[in-house]
Amino acid sequence: MTLRVTPAGRLSADQVISVLRAATLAPSTHNTQPWLFTTGAEGIELYADADRVLPIADADRRELLISCGAALFNLRTAIHALGVHPDTTVFPRRDEPDLLAVVRPRTATPVDRRLAELAQAIPRRHTNRTPFGGEPVPPSTVGLLRHAAEAEQAWLPQLDENQLTGLRELVHESHLLQERDPAFGAEWRRWTGRAPTSRDGVPFAAGGSTVADDTWVLRDFGDPAARALAAPPLVVVVGSFGDTPADRLRAGQAMQRVLLTATANGLDASFISQPVEVRATRVRLRHLLGDGLWPQIVLRIGHGSPVARTPRRALADVLLEPPSLTA
Ligand SMILES: Cc1cc2nc3c(=O)[nH]c(=O)nc-3n(C[C@H](O)[C@H](O)[C@H](O)COP(=O)(O)O)c2cc1C
Repeated sequence: MTLRVTPAGRLSADQVISVLRAATLAPSTHNTQPWLFTTGAEGIELYADADRVLPIADADRRELLISCGAALFNLRTAIHALGVHPDTTVFPRRDEPDLLAVVRPRTATPVDRRLAELAQAIPRRHTNRTPFGGEPVPPSTVGLLRHAAEAEQAWLPQLDENQLTGLRELVHESHLLQERDPAFGAEWRRWTGRAPTSRDGVPFAAGGSTVADDTWVLRDFGDPAARALAAPPLVVVVGSFGDTPADRLRAGQAMQRVLLTATANGLDASFISQPVEVRATRVRLRHLLGDGLWPQIVLRIGHGSPVARTPRRALADVLLEPPSLTA
């Protein structure tokens, strides 16, 4: 497929390509990359790629929307870093639920230094499943992570010891439930342990490595011994105030802002999604957090060893033609 991109708003064709590349560097469940884009004279549209939903792990498309929200945050931030305001409308057409956002790069804007730092962190952020050292995350950095979530209208609650213990139990419980589900296992195997040539899915090389303690259970992406991980210095939950598609898309943007803030501050992160993927444990986690928030993402944050980047589909494969920007 050829790459046909025209200028969009104030962006040249080359700039459109660079911001789309930034968008596609977002994390996504099992590296499904469930997004599609159109580009036109007015701007860029982001669509959910319904063919890439995970029917077992993500039956209600919650994680698909979170992944696309992360891509949207990258897109907005990359456009901003070029000195252009990314005028964004989410769910612009009621009758088209897969059209998630329209971003119109219309007016020039002074570049915010913090957002420019986050834009630079986009290609450096990778999910890091290696064991994390015990070095604590300074309270000032925790404050930055909390602010990152709040700047995108989400919330990063401070977890006390009891809540952490409860969360850890929920992680173990949901992990076992998923492990015992043959349909989950089949879906899992389809998307993980991929050969290095694959453009999507989680490559074998992205798995973690052995550690002794079994305090937290991570998923096994390659090396089965990697599931048992020592207590990481920081575990956070990104929560949203509602649980509609718009809330989930917003939570994805908040998650990505948290992840990029971690990267910009020299920290590594990975996901512990089992308790939010299993409906029953997600409800209990919501209760554990005081019933005011919908838990969307659980992350461990700390200092890991360097990891390789995961592959992405070619840009031509995520571009829809012809452009349909009319909203
Ligand atoms: C909503 C969401 C949930 C995820 N859940 C997990 C998880 O439970 N365990 C895990 O190891 N990785 C998880 N990931 C990370 C993806 O596997 C990862 O983003 C993908 O393989 C691309 O790699 P990258 O993040 O290094 O770019 C999740 C990512 C997203 C966006």
